[in-house]
Amino acid sequence: MSAELPLLSVQDLVIEFDTRQGRRRVVDQVSFDLAPGEVLGILGESGSGKTMTTMAVLGLVAGEPGVMGGSIKLLDGEQQVDLLSDLDGVLSRKGDRVVKNGRKWRRTVHKRMQPLWGRMMTAVFQNPRHSLDPLMTVGAQVEESIELALPDLAADAVAAKAVDWLDRVQMNQPQRVHGSYPHELSGGMCQRAMIAVALARRPKLLIADEPTTGLDTTVRAEIVELFRALLEEERRSMMYISHDIREVLYLADRVIVMKGGKVVETETADNLRLGRGTRADYTAMLLSAADLPTGAAA
Ligand SMILES: Nc1ncnc2c1ncn2[C@@H]1O[C@H](COP(=O)(O)OP(=O)(O)OP(=O)(O)O)[C@@H](O)[C@H]1O
Ligand SMILES: [Mg+2]
Repeated sequence: MSAELPLLSVQDLVIEFDTRQGRRRVVDQVSFDLAPGEVLGILGESGSGKTMTTMAVLGLVAGEPGVMGGSIKLLDGEQQVDLLSDLDGVLSRKGDRVVKNGRKWRRTVHKRMQPLWGRMMTAVFQNPRHSLDPLMTVGAQVEESIELALPDLAADAVAAKAVDWLDRVQMNQPQRVHGSYPHELSGGMCQRAMIAVALARRPKLLIADEPTTGLDTTVRAEIVELFRALLEEERRSMMYISHDIREVLYLADRVIVMKGGKVVETETADNLRLGRGTRADYTAMLLSAADLPTGAAA
């Protein structure tokens, strides 16, 4: 029964922020499903709401009022948990406007999300150097993840597994990297380390939000290849966000395209690659601008 349920189901998600120009809706009725073992690519121009959508899944939307509607259902074992089910309880009215009670909301979300972070989902962002703890060796950070996933493992087995993870993310000299601090590594190596830290938690869902942005072109390609190799080694449920249509089509099974806070396209990566299926004008524009090597998208 649960095999048919999506791992993640987002329905009609709405995120709003109060700005000097008034209330702004930055995520507008966004809906999508993610099946277990599926890689969902999210494409869209800067400011289209990609990060806010994933932040809502992680329960990390900062800013008021933030998440204002919709449901985010995560499959935990056989149970579908709605991460937003108490939403009504923390909404109130200010004149004719609906607002969220920030502190109460944050407490509610934190209490609900804390047991899910790591075990259910982990994330990899851009600027990996900022995501790693500068005061801990890379090995210790990977070990921390392993210990959380496998609390009964003996210390020497944890250390061996950490070196193994550093090897799996294709670090040269994993043993040496294990004892290194983040400042001793290049940007690309930091991102590999971050991917090891995230995956060693054995999350059901990995969220990668522009993991290659800010890296040199060759390093970007290497990180994309690393994701591809890790997916070939083991099917993983992943959300992969990028501006880069090539990266997304290379890694994803299915793609959503966002524009101005809305999903304007949901299509399989195969269909997009081959130029099949109904395509929004915006997607067609992205595809033709990408000048894909197959030429099939023209
Ligand atoms: N706390 C906030 N207050 C007001 N506006 C915000 C806040 N956080 C994000 N936004 C706005 O929400 C919109 C969507 O942001 P989001 O970060 O999701 O875009 P994105 O698609 O990830 O863009 P990029 O590709 O540049 O990362 C943007 O216009 C952004 O400026
Ligand atoms: Mg973003």
